[in-house]
Amino acid sequence: MTEEIVKSALSKVMYPGFTKDIVTFGFVKDIVVNGNDTSFTVEITSSAPEVAQQIKDEATEALKSAGAANVTVNVKAPQMPRESSSHGKNIAPQVKNFLMVSSGKGGVGKSTTSVNIAIALAAQGKKVGLLDADIYGPNVPRMMGVSDVKPEVNGNKVLPIKAYGIEMMSMGSLMEDGQSLIWRGAMIMKAIEQFLRDILWSELDVLVIDMPPGTGDAQLTLAQSVPVTAGLTVTTPQGVSLDDSRRSLDMFKKLNIPIAGIIENMSGFIAPDTGVEYDIFGKGTSTPMAKEFDTQIIAEIPIEPSIRTGGDEGKPITFVDPSSESAKRYMKAAESIWNTIEEINANGGVDNQSVQPTTPPGVSACSTGGASASKEQSGGGCGCS
Ligand SMILES: Nc1ncnc2c1ncn2[C@@H]1O[C@H](COP(=O)(O)OP(=O)(O)O)[C@@H](O)[C@H]1O
Ligand SMILES: [Mg+2]
Repeated sequence: MTEEIVKSALSKVMYPGFTKDIVTFGFVKDIVVNGNDTSFTVEITSSAPEVAQQIKDEATEALKSAGAANVTVNVKAPQMPRESSSHGKNIAPQVKNFLMVSSGKGGVGKSTTSVNIAIALAAQGKKVGLLDADIYGPNVPRMMGVSDVKPEVNGNKVLPIKAYGIEMMSMGSLMEDGQSLIWRGAMIMKAIEQFLRDILWSELDVLVIDMPPGTGDAQLTLAQSVPVTAGLTVTTPQGVSLDDSRRSLDMFKKLNIPIAGIIENMSGFIAPDTGVEYDIFGKGTSTPMAKEFDTQIIAEIPIEPSIRTGGDEGKPITFVDPSSESAKRYMKAAESIWNTIEEINANGGVDNQSVQPTTPPGVSACSTGGASASKEQSGGGCGCS
């Protein structure tokens, strides 16, 4: 057994929730090889006991497979914080709560849900912001009826655009029409940070964040920049959509983000002429998945033509037709989300320290590439997309 073999074995141990290993993150210290005894320290930034235990188990296993006889792993973790309310990193401290809206894939109604939930929360008296963090497909300006509005600049900050009683910002409002950018990992991280730091959000009760589909750099950057209070998953009832949604829920779990629930969208069809509700893709098919993740379906939103026209014409159904069945369901879902947020805060709030593998200088926090530090430095960008 040599120090090199130890390092190479430990470079197969991933930091829980990330696709980078503990050696690349620079967490492995004090390797001592003495005859049959091998010991080392793993200094982590998470205070979550399960993270420490998982690293201990996997590191021991990795070394035993590499031929070590007696292995001692010392995991050094910070104390579990005890104060109430949110702590850890927060680059937008004037925002009290962050709601991350995710889906496994595009086209399931994530933006429609974000817009209507944000408007419903505002109708219930909350001060609400809506951040369109879907930099690949920024549809929120159109859905909010402000696609022609350019934001005002104040010094080196940008003012959010106001519509339907909420504050909104989107890459679509900052770019010229039809312009498109090819985003690399490092640019995504920068964009998300700027949305939080350089937009003059008011003192908000909650910022609803429409994420890009999937589980990539944007999600990780958000979780590392602000204490995300709760996550909301949007799915459609078909089995293929559920497979993807499971990944989105699993991401919340791995990033220690409490789950506020699942919205089953396009669940049944309400005929505009008769008001009769028909089943199309199956209804309630996401219930077993909700159980699996210890959460609930907080709304089944039917396919309703006025939801689609409302989106296209910038007239969200919850605002323009609050007595419609779908608007009522969005309102109920918003109430449920707010109750969950209050409960989370009453129980000590959220803490994003556990998703903070503060990387050594020069190493990107990017998770998906698994590229080595040196590769990232020479290649430019972080190797993940
Ligand atoms: N419940 C619904 N009933 C009718 N149309 C819907 C419904 N939900 C979403 N849509 C429409 O489906 C399309 C995709 O929705 P969108 O919110 O843009 O999805 P995503 O953000 O997940 O890509 C949009 O045209 C939207 O208006
Ligand atoms: Mg969208």
